[in-house]
Amino acid sequence: MPPRVVILTGAGISAESGLGTFRDAGGLWADWPLADVATPEGFARNPALVHEFYNARRRNVLDSHPNAAHEALAMWEMDRAGEILIVTQNIDDLHERAGSRAVIHMHGEVLGALCAACGARWPAPERMDPADPCPACRAPATRPDVVWFGEMPYRMDAIEAALSGCELFAAIGTSGQVWPAAGFVERARAAGARCVELNLEPSAVAHRFHEVRLGPATRIVPDWAAAERGRPPQPAAG
Ligand code: APR
Repeated sequence: MPPRVVILTGAGISAESGLGTFRDAGGLWADWPLADVATPEGFARNPALVHEFYNARRRNVLDSHPNAAHEALAMWEMDRAGEILIVTQNIDDLHERAGSRAVIHMHGEVLGALCAACGARWPAPERMDPADPCPACRAPATRPDVVWFGEMPYRMDAIEAALSGCELFAAIGTSGQVWPAAGFVERARAAGARCVELNLEPSAVAHRFHEVRLGPATRIVPDWAAAERGRPPQPAAG
């Protein structure tokens, strides 16, 4: 059975947990040029800088806690197992720490490490370094297990299948500026899903949603999730 509900989350859902967003005023890309720290070319040029950036992100994640928005989505899954799939662009583990289990990390996870030489994966140490050898092949080619610009997001087949079969699609805390995630609303709409955006301000693709709710995630997500959880299955939206 495909999940009835697919929820796409972005940096905005973790903002009130103290994790920075990318494109808001003072966002991460203002201090760390994206081309330097989030592309394969940047990593090839200066792996130490890239590790420094992700080491700081990892420290920040380890110091943070899930907020009321993460918890509301986890409670939904606990209440109705199998009904909801979270597809997150976030590399933090706050959905899991809140209790969600059906989570796809389409942009990878900062708490994971990946060997660029042999593809082995293992839990990342708190600080990674360009000289770290891969525990499987010993090559000094270790990187955070995150998806950079120009790389293919993870588990796209599973995501596409879920979007094609869902009845409700919601995007929470994402600016709608990064593809393919920005196009998920179109895919879900074409499948007849009702589409709802929950964000601090309208995203770049807000006009494609049937409904837009504005406000901080910890305020608007719990009420919305509680109401949706109680709803009986709906006929397809136009
Ligand atoms: N509650 C809800 N939404 C919020 C909050 C909040 N407290 N704070 C900020 N937002 C919204 C902003 O209005 C913005 O629309 O969250 C969105 C964050 O947008 P981005 O910084 O662009 O983050 P995201 O959409 O997750 O970025 C997508 O881009 O750089 C890459 O790989 C990175 O996964 C990331 C991807």
